[in-house]
Amino acid sequence: MAEKNHVTWDSPVKAERLEQLRKMSAEAEAGGGAERREREHKAGKLSARERIHLLLDEGTFEELDKFVRHRCVDFGSAETRPMGDGFVTGFGRIDGRLVYVFAQDFTVFGGSLSETNAQKICKIMDLAMRNGAPVIGLNDSGGARIQEGVASLAGYADIFLRNTLASGVIPQLSAVMGPCAGGAVYSPAITDFIFMTRDTSYMFVTGPDVIKNVTHEEVTKQELGGAMTHNATSGVAHFVARDDADCCAMLRELMGFLPSNNLEDPPRRNTADPWDRREELLNSIVPEDPLKPYDIKDVVHAVVDDRYFFEVHEHFAKNIVVGFARLDGRPVGVVANQPAFLAGTLDINASVKGARFVRFCDAFNIPLITFEDVPGFLPGTQQEFGGIIKHGAKLLFAFAEATVPKITVIARKAYGGAYCVMASKHIRTDANFAWPSAEIAVMGPEGAVDIVYKRELSNAPDAERSKLRQEKIAEFRSRFANPFVAAERGYLDAVIEPAETRPRIITALRALENKRDTNPKKKHSNIPL
Ligand code: HXC
Repeated sequence: MAEKNHVTWDSPVKAERLEQLRKMSAEAEAGGGAERREREHKAGKLSARERIHLLLDEGTFEELDKFVRHRCVDFGSAETRPMGDGFVTGFGRIDGRLVYVFAQDFTVFGGSLSETNAQKICKIMDLAMRNGAPVIGLNDSGGARIQEGVASLAGYADIFLRNTLASGVIPQLSAVMGPCAGGAVYSPAITDFIFMTRDTSYMFVTGPDVIKNVTHEEVTKQELGGAMTHNATSGVAHFVARDDADCCAMLRELMGFLPSNNLEDPPRRNTADPWDRREELLNSIVPEDPLKPYDIKDVVHAVVDDRYFFEVHEHFAKNIVVGFARLDGRPVGVVANQPAFLAGTLDINASVKGARFVRFCDAFNIPLITFEDVPGFLPGTQQEFGGIIKHGAKLLFAFAEATVPKITVIARKAYGGAYCVMASKHIRTDANFAWPSAEIAVMGPEGAVDIVYKRELSNAPDAERSKLRQEKIAEFRSRFANPFVAAERGYLDAVIEPAETRPRIITALRALENKRDTNPKKKHSNIPL
């Protein structure tokens, strides 16, 4: 009997099936066809599969749902039912570590989201959550598939729910590598980081034509939602890449700093950079004149392993610098005021940028290293009307809530509320250092003297007023604008020689390796949004 049922692959039936499989596979791989593909290549864009190939370790991609097709019959859709329906989904490896990935193919219905390819995305998101692995989305989409109506909207909502529930559990990275319109922008917006390609991507909720009808404004796609608009102006995107290949390389790079999920520590990497390296440059980096700027990134580079700093949100709110680096081989998140831009003040954008980064690091067990030189919050009606109170509170809230190892180095100014905000001892920072050049007070000497000695100064004869003011400023400066008052109270653990900053931070970091701290049990906090 067994022999009778035995059919070999060269039997006509089986060979036919094999042929069918190969044909279906080739059809899925062809996407919207050679002509459309060529158009995309000419525009400087790679195909969904080419992008996945660049993103993942060679030969590791396992595709799922290659033969899924849409079920829509409206508006002539039944005539065109391509294999895979324009989305490529599956899993693979980056530096040997598991990641789930989806890529939208613009050559099939403009990469628009159908009910069935929403299901494909949901499947890999569910698998990623179950297996504790990141999800990377390569987006290139005209939004909801118009022919499918509410079924497509439902598909988006299913994805948004999963993005939200996965937030803080697994890293979610989005690359925008072509147009992303309508619903296609909201899933990236919920994820942790958005990458955009420089000349080939744009994101907007409503496009230029709709805007022209409604508000009569005329704007190009690039002006409205191009990579630099979202990297520098809106702050929606965190990275700008030269092209698709650069974008995939940057995604891989970022992955190297992140754990696979919130229960893991980020991956350590061996370094030849000595842990106890002194950096003499730091002893002279802060200018004598407190009003003179310097570049805080020089400090960051001097301290971290191999001087390598992977900056996040480089073009947005340049008065605060955030990004990833390694110390002692261990990934850390760096937050630093930038005196070279707006004097390092905290404004609305800087507060929001910093807060989001701090919360990401805290969610994924990445220690926070803060370099501080902040004269205070940026004054002005624009800031006050824009709600600097609630936005500044976000940064304060994020630092206070964070339970990862926290280390702060005050390089120069730490004035007013900004002193409290920037990971001060009082909000559970583990190790607080200051350089001898630190100035820690309620406000700068000039402002303080003008308030405290207002009456004396206005009563003084005109000829003596300026001299009296200068004397009082000098007195205030020597009394308060130093680190020693804070050190006397234990608000600083140590005043350190700047050249020793790297070994001092690494020693503290090693001592914090087994740190355990928690927040009170609650449903969730209510960060001031
Ligand atoms: C179905 C779509 C589509 C869509 C594009 N296509 N968008 N098909 N549903 N949403 C198709 C086109 O018909 C065309 O098919 C092909 O994709 C390429 O589109 P072009 O317009 O030729 O390309 P281009 O000039 O580069 O313009 C790209 C674009 C534009 C800017 C994305 O296509 C566009 O404006 N699309 C509609 C965007 C939109 O409004 N989406 C719905 C948003 S509402 P052929 O066969 O001719 O090549 C939404 C609600 C979700 O998303 C809300 C959740 C919160």
